[in-house]
Amino acid sequence: MSTLPFLPFTRPSIDEETIAAVGEVLRSGWITTGPRCRELEAALSARYGGRPVRLVNSATAALEMALQLCGIGPGDEVITCPLSWVATGNVILQVGATPVFVDADPATRNIDLGAVEAAITRHTRAIMPVDLAGLPVDRDLLYRIASQHGLRVIEDAAQSMGAHWAGREIGSFGDLVSISFHANKNMTTTEGGCLVMNTDAEAALFEKLRLQGVVRHADGTMDVDVLGGKSNLTDVAAAIGLGQLKRLDAFNARRHSLARRYFERFDRSLGCELPPADFTHSNWHMFQPLLPLDRMSITRGGFIDAMKARGIGVGVHYPAMHRFKLFRDLGFRDGQFPVAERIGDRIVTLPLFPAMEDSDVDRVCDAVRAVLEPALR
Ligand SMILES: Cc1ncc(COP(=O)(O)O)c(C=O)c1O
Repeated sequence: MSTLPFLPFTRPSIDEETIAAVGEVLRSGWITTGPRCRELEAALSARYGGRPVRLVNSATAALEMALQLCGIGPGDEVITCPLSWVATGNVILQVGATPVFVDADPATRNIDLGAVEAAITRHTRAIMPVDLAGLPVDRDLLYRIASQHGLRVIEDAAQSMGAHWAGREIGSFGDLVSISFHANKNMTTTEGGCLVMNTDAEAALFEKLRLQGVVRHADGTMDVDVLGGKSNLTDVAAAIGLGQLKRLDAFNARRHSLARRYFERFDRSLGCELPPADFTHSNWHMFQPLLPLDRMSITRGGFIDAMKARGIGVGVHYPAMHRFKLFRDLGFRDGQFPVAERIGDRIVTLPLFPAMEDSDVDRVCDAVRAVLEPALR
């Protein structure tokens, strides 16, 4: 239908300098964890005011090991929101703990902090908030609740690299902060992630957890005193991350400008609910309207197919996870978290990535109108 090139909902921007840096690593003879990883960890730590930062091969691994750092396991409860990538819930189950879901706030689409205290029991050990689409959860209120109840906070900041709260960058303050460098994120290492920690002791334990529990002594001997896994990042990936980190602020500025254009150009008469127009805190990881499903003669799948026929990729991030079979089998049920369910059923991710032109936003808005207008009842 469209003669223009396909516009995906996201696409990484990797420059020639970064591609050359990857080539250099590949030619160097040392391609796994090494100097490039240490360089990226140091650069991230400098960005976060000197806090210890360690890399891993996914944010899922970072979250799971963050739970382990807190000593969270069977019998413990972790409070989070069901409106997230399923990784957030899976890691709680992986360590043998119990996820306790709190519904989303319809305004922010993040965890409803006003409902968190009612979910705290004597088994609660941590809150794991998620900054959906890169819009940070209110850190003042979050940390007030956590400190009043003596809880750890594991920030699932997978999507909020470069976002801010009260003038401070996410990662530069707080308790444990997990960030993703998956290919879709605002900066990427292809796959990868990191955990920002509080102390060198936490970082030392994290290093063991990410690589078989091994500790190497100065005399060349080694020991293993905890059970660790295999989650280290490679220097090939870190070389990409170093190239991306240099451009992150420019990427995020471009995302802001494209998001502003969406607000200018989006036809409000179609009845979609636009995301919060936040240009102070968010890193604009995604631009996600909610479809007016109750007024549409087509389904969300039909909308996505019709947009694809017009050369435009649309994603779904995410359905509310408590309705997945894994969680239903644990006793969660439909209707339990109505806000997360409503958003999860209607949400669509429209194209937003730094290499987009302003005219691409206009093209998306025109296509949304062309698909929705005739489908509205
Ligand atoms: C909210 C959230 N949490 C966790 C993750 C897991 O990140 P990774 O894919 O790096 O394991 C993602 C990735 O999409 C995410 O969006």
